[in-house]
Amino acid sequence: MVIFMNTPALGVALFLIGAIASRAAEPSAPLPYFSGEVDAQAAADVAQMTLDEKIGQMIQADYLALAGHEEDVTRLALGSVLHGGSSDPADNSATGWADVVDSLQRRALATRLKIPLLYGVDAVHGHNNIPGAVIFPHNIGLGATRDPALVERAERVTALEVLATGPNWAFAPGVIVGRDERWGRTYESFGEDPALVGTLGAAAVRGFQTAHLADSTAVLACAKHFLGDGGTTGGKDQGNTVCDELTLRRLFLAPYVDAVSAGVGSIMVSYSSWNGAKMHGQRGLLTDVLKGELGFRGFLVSDWAAIDQLPGDYAAQVETAINAGLDMIMIPNGPPKKNNYFQFATLLHEHVTAGRVSMARIDDAVQRILRVKLAMGLAARPFANRALLGSLGSPEHRAVARECVQRSLVLLKNAAHMLPFAPAVHRVRVVGAAADDLGAQCGGWTISWQGSHGAVTSGGTTLLAGLRQVAPAGCTVSFDPEGTSPEAADAIVVVAAEDPYAEGKGDRSDLALPGKTLALLRGARATKAPVVLVLLSGRPLILGDALELSDAVVAAWLPGTEGEGVADVLFGAKPITGKLPVSWPRSMAQIPVNVGDAVYDPLFPFGFGLGY
Ligand code: BGC
Ligand code: BGC
Repeated sequence: MVIFMNTPALGVALFLIGAIASRAAEPSAPLPYFSGEVDAQAAADVAQMTLDEKIGQMIQADYLALAGHEEDVTRLALGSVLHGGSSDPADNSATGWADVVDSLQRRALATRLKIPLLYGVDAVHGHNNIPGAVIFPHNIGLGATRDPALVERAERVTALEVLATGPNWAFAPGVIVGRDERWGRTYESFGEDPALVGTLGAAAVRGFQTAHLADSTAVLACAKHFLGDGGTTGGKDQGNTVCDELTLRRLFLAPYVDAVSAGVGSIMVSYSSWNGAKMHGQRGLLTDVLKGELGFRGFLVSDWAAIDQLPGDYAAQVETAINAGLDMIMIPNGPPKKNNYFQFATLLHEHVTAGRVSMARIDDAVQRILRVKLAMGLAARPFANRALLGSLGSPEHRAVARECVQRSLVLLKNAAHMLPFAPAVHRVRVVGAAADDLGAQCGGWTISWQGSHGAVTSGGTTLLAGLRQVAPAGCTVSFDPEGTSPEAADAIVVVAAEDPYAEGKGDRSDLALPGKTLALLRGARATKAPVVLVLLSGRPLILGDALELSDAVVAAWLPGTEGEGVADVLFGAKPITGKLPVSWPRSMAQIPVNVGDAVYDPLFPFGFGLGY
């Protein structure tokens, strides 16, 4: 079905695109997740639930909202709990998490129907809330690998680390098509091309969920954020994407077709608007397109307090969101804060009693949620899988992340074949504090929501430590964090990094290189040794004079905890194979610049990447 047809010509085009979309959505074999048996069981369960039990299933409360009121899980028969980016248990260790999850699951199992919780966490580059977990490159780096099999393996590792500590649901993958580097979430995108995003997004879904949600090591995936989150005007977070429906489908819907084909069980709706109207109220796209045309049979979850941004008071917001097709609402607040989960339950109950929300809509929502729980066999595995705790941050898991790092690096310049370092390079001078800053190389969504500088987590390897580990016998690696003590060297590695950020706090109107970069490069240059610039960033930055001042330039994105992966490539133990998942702009004035633009003249095009 096609919505909002304006002209007959556009209508025909939309119809064609729609037909392509629904054909592509047809899975080759029927997805095993929602067998007739699961369907029938979910329907039977719904039939015996009270209205309040149904509403409880539609609530996802944040852990910190519940802290001190944990009995509300049983009282309201909640369907889900999440930990937001900074909503950590007081004991923020792997076993601390497992204890908290298990205790809340016991409270859910103490309800009349004993339905376990779906337990969600933002495992967006590894199980990134937990100290000691492996931190993978952010999606933009995975996009540069162009390797779906590798992405699938990465998310398999993440799934096991998640299950070890209790949660059974990851708010990932972002199947975000990032079209404007000013946006603070650019690094959560696999790239600017919908086909690339769709391919890697589907691989990530398989990595989390395995071939069958019933697998005891499957974690529910969540494709996000539907729809057009990466296309907002000016790259403004939670902003407005302005385009016709054809463009919206071509650029942003395509990856959801792939994710749905891969069997994704949940999808998160975007804070952003399309042509001025918030996505959380867009019934045409949520219900008609996603659930109808694409045949999505999982459930839709809201973003964090996102319905609170709809027009009207909270009552109106609840009504609009549920009628638009939202099945579960993510609620960060408990009483006495406003718009809390009690208020939500009361208001939705009143809407149903008054006929403003139909019982059929409620039943559909709950059936979708229960279907996923049943397909996952959660009743048989509600608790943390503590047998997996020993593998959290294990060498085997780190090896997969190191491979991701190796494959994610993109070589933008390599004058006189400076890289890989020749055997004659015996003295490597590393310049710039970012070279020894685990937090900077991990970026946002690392332990805390925004991430931070320094030793954010345990067990990782900084770039500097990685270079020291990997350097061949007879090669010494020295370090000058401030660039104030030049020394003779055979090669200089200048490392520059963006400060960590997440979401709107990373929106920028100026993507200049970090403050000292040019000074560090000039200082390095003065020594006459060849200079490689390694850039740690969530997006392309404007290189300006840095390109001339460097002999070689490597885009290393936000590689995560396994810094040896960068060293492996600089020393030539591994080839350099990454390809740009985004166009690299020449100047701020050129942004947005994306492959396929009518006028296209970036500094480096989409897909660019030198080899050795
Ligand atoms: C983000 C989502 C995230 C959610 C839960 C929101 O602010 O937009 O991507 O999953 O918070 O932490
Ligand atoms: C939470 C995040 C959430 C954000 C939304 C933060 O306080 O920790 O999970 O995405 O708020 O603005």
